[in-house]
Amino acid sequence: MAKTAELIIDGKSYKFPIVEGTEGELGIDISNLLEETGAVTLDFGYKNTGATKSAITFLDGDKGILRYRGYSIEDLAAKSSFLEVSYLLIFGELPTQDQLDKFSNDIKNHTMVHEDIKKILDGFPSTSHPMGVLASLFCAQTAFYPESLDPNRSSEGVYLSIVRSLAKMPTFAAWAYKNEVGHPVNYPDNSLDYCSRFLKMMFALPAENYSVDPVVANALDKLLILHADHEQNCSTSTVRIVGSSKASIYSSISAGINALWGPLHGGANQEVILMLEQIKKDGGDTDKWIAKAKDKNDPFRLMGFGHRVYKNFDPRAKIIKKAADDVLEKLGVNDPTLEIAMKLEEVALRDPYFIERKLYPNVDFYSGIIYRALGIPVDMFTVMFAIGRLPGWISQWKELRENKEPIGRPRQIYTGQNHRQYIAIAKR
Ligand code: CMC
Repeated sequence: MAKTAELIIDGKSYKFPIVEGTEGELGIDISNLLEETGAVTLDFGYKNTGATKSAITFLDGDKGILRYRGYSIEDLAAKSSFLEVSYLLIFGELPTQDQLDKFSNDIKNHTMVHEDIKKILDGFPSTSHPMGVLASLFCAQTAFYPESLDPNRSSEGVYLSIVRSLAKMPTFAAWAYKNEVGHPVNYPDNSLDYCSRFLKMMFALPAENYSVDPVVANALDKLLILHADHEQNCSTSTVRIVGSSKASIYSSISAGINALWGPLHGGANQEVILMLEQIKKDGGDTDKWIAKAKDKNDPFRLMGFGHRVYKNFDPRAKIIKKAADDVLEKLGVNDPTLEIAMKLEEVALRDPYFIERKLYPNVDFYSGIIYRALGIPVDMFTVMFAIGRLPGWISQWKELRENKEPIGRPRQIYTGQNHRQYIAIAKR
C-alpha cells in the first residue's frame, strides 16, 4: 500500500503521498499543500526540503557514501578520468571508447575562445579575484553565442553548448589567473589532455619550454573527479533555480560560479589554507584555535570542518588526504601546514564539541594543501573547484530542462508592517 503522511492543522487532517527514492529515501510530497491547507512550509536554508527528484548523484551523509549515477566515488577516483566522469554525469552512462573519443575531440575543437574575450579580460584590474573574472567570462559566452539564449534549443544545440562550456572553462580559468599576475595569456595546446592543457595555459611563460609534470596532471584529474557533483548544494541549486526561468546554460552556470565563491561553500578551500597559515604564524598552537572555534562569542570557525549533509567522514576528504600524502611525497614537497592540519584534525576528532555536532573534515580541508603543492596559487583554489564542478552543474541544468521542471519560486512568511498610510515627506 502506498505510504502517506498525515498533517493536522486546527484539528483538520490532510493526507500527503510519500515518495520513495531508489535508495529508500523518503519524501513527503506537499505539492498541493498550499492549495489544500492554505499554509506553506518554513525551512530556513532548505535543511529539510527536497527541491527536486534527481537521478544523478546519491549521497548518504550518515554513512559517508557518495555515488555518481550509481558508481562509487572511490572507484571513479581510482579508475576513471575527469572527462569520462563528465560524460557519465551528463549523459547518464559510462561511455564506450568511441563515445569518449568523440566527446574528447569535440571538446578539443572548442577550446579556443573568441579573441574579443581578451578585450573583456583587459577591462578587469589585476586586483580582480579570478572567481569574479571567471563568472563574468563564462556569462559573456551568451554574447558570442546568442543562439544559446533560445529556451527551446534542439538537443544538438544543447550538446554544442555543453561541449563549449567544458572546452572553454579551463581557458577562461587560466586567463583569469594571467590577468591577475599581468602576464600574456597562453592559447590552448590541443595536443594535450584536459588537465595538462589547463596547466600549460596557467604556467607556461613566453619563450620558455614548459612541460607538464604527469604527477601534477594526474593529481589534478583526481581532484576534479572528486568535485564533479554533489547533488543539491548551494551552487547547484542556484544553477537549477536560474535555469528554471529558462535562462541559458551559460548564465545559469555563471550564477553557480558566483554561489560557489562564498567562504561557506567552495571558497572554503582558500580559507583553509589562509587559516592554516595564520595558525602557523601564530606559533602553531592548535588547542588555542580549536578553543576559538568552539567559542560562540568568537566568529572564528574551523574552516574545512563540518558539512550540511555529511554527519560522518566526507568520503572525498578521505581520498584527498591520501592523495595529499602521495602528491607531497612524489613532488618532494615538505609543507608544514599539512602537519598543522593533521594536528587540528586529530584534536577535533576527539573533542566533544566536534563529536556531538558530528563535525568532520570536509573535501576542502586537505584539497588546498594539494593545490598548493601543485603550484596553484591560493586565490585560484575555488576556481579549481569550479572547473571540477562544471559537469555536475551541466548535468543538473540538463536534467531540469529534460524534466520540464517549473520555475523555482519559494514562498515566505511575511513579518513586516501591516498596511499603513503614506505620509508626505514634509509632514514626517
Ligand atoms: N567550526 C566550528 N563550529 C562549527 C563548524 C566549524 N567549522 N561548523 C559547524 N559548527 C557548529 C555550529 O556553530 C553549530 O553549533 P551550535 O549547534 O552549537 O549552534 C553546529 O556546528 C551546526 O552548524 P551549522 O552552521 O548550523 O550547520 P550548517 O549545516 O548550516 O553549515 C557548514 C554547514 C559547512 C556551512 C558549516 O559546517 C561551516 O561553516 N563549515 C566551515 C566552512 C566549510 O568548511 N565549508 C565547506 C563545506 S564543504 C564544500 C562544499 O560542498 O561547499
